[in-house]
Amino acid sequence: MRAVVVYESMYGNTHLIADAIGTGLGTAFEVSVVPVSHANPAILADADLVVVGGPTHAHGMSRPATRKAAAEAANKPVSPLETEPDALGPGLREWFSSLSQYPAKAAAFDTRIHGPATLTGRASKRVARLLRAHGFDVVAEPESFLVTKQDRLEPQETTRAREWGARLAASLTPSRAPGIQG
Ligand SMILES: Cc1cc2nc3c(=O)[nH]c(=O)nc-3n(C[C@H](O)[C@H](O)[C@H](O)COP(=O)(O)O)c2cc1C
Repeated sequence: MRAVVVYESMYGNTHLIADAIGTGLGTAFEVSVVPVSHANPAILADADLVVVGGPTHAHGMSRPATRKAAAEAANKPVSPLETEPDALGPGLREWFSSLSQYPAKAAAFDTRIHGPATLTGRASKRVARLLRAHGFDVVAEPESFLVTKQDRLEPQETTRAREWGARLAASLTPSRAPGIQG
């Protein structure tokens, strides 16, 4: 079985989470982890599971203006942040607008600031809705992974992402009756 993890990331945190989810899924799937700029139809074509996530910007999915603001913040001389190679390229919102219908199973995740989701918003809810609109069978609740106000992952979030990926994989893997070989 094949899984594809598609991520958007400005500062690298969602990229790290996507890699960790990919590691967790690797317990049951052959996994590709790809930035949204490389998530072409050929990569999705025979996937059994597609997991999609990005950063929460302005309470939802990023837009060109929020990505520009994020890049400008990182480019300030005092900023310790660095942007990912494709940071200013098309994001998940634009990717979805050119996506066909897919019958595969799917799940959504995001990164967002640590705090009540009612205040921070969470991009993954919209990602899940867009997955359903494109025919995907969304098999898990959207999940958030948390960053500090300084845009660094909270401790343990990559471990939690790996475990979330492993649980997702297990939930989709037919369990074998004990003692039966083959
Ligand atoms: C322009 C901008 C707007 C943001 N708006 C929100 C927000 O509304 N809610 C939130 O939780 N985090 C917000 N954040 C923080 C991002 O969620 C955080 O930078 C992101 O999760 C880091 O992921 P990345 O390193 O993959 O870009 C915002 C960040 C930027 C740059």
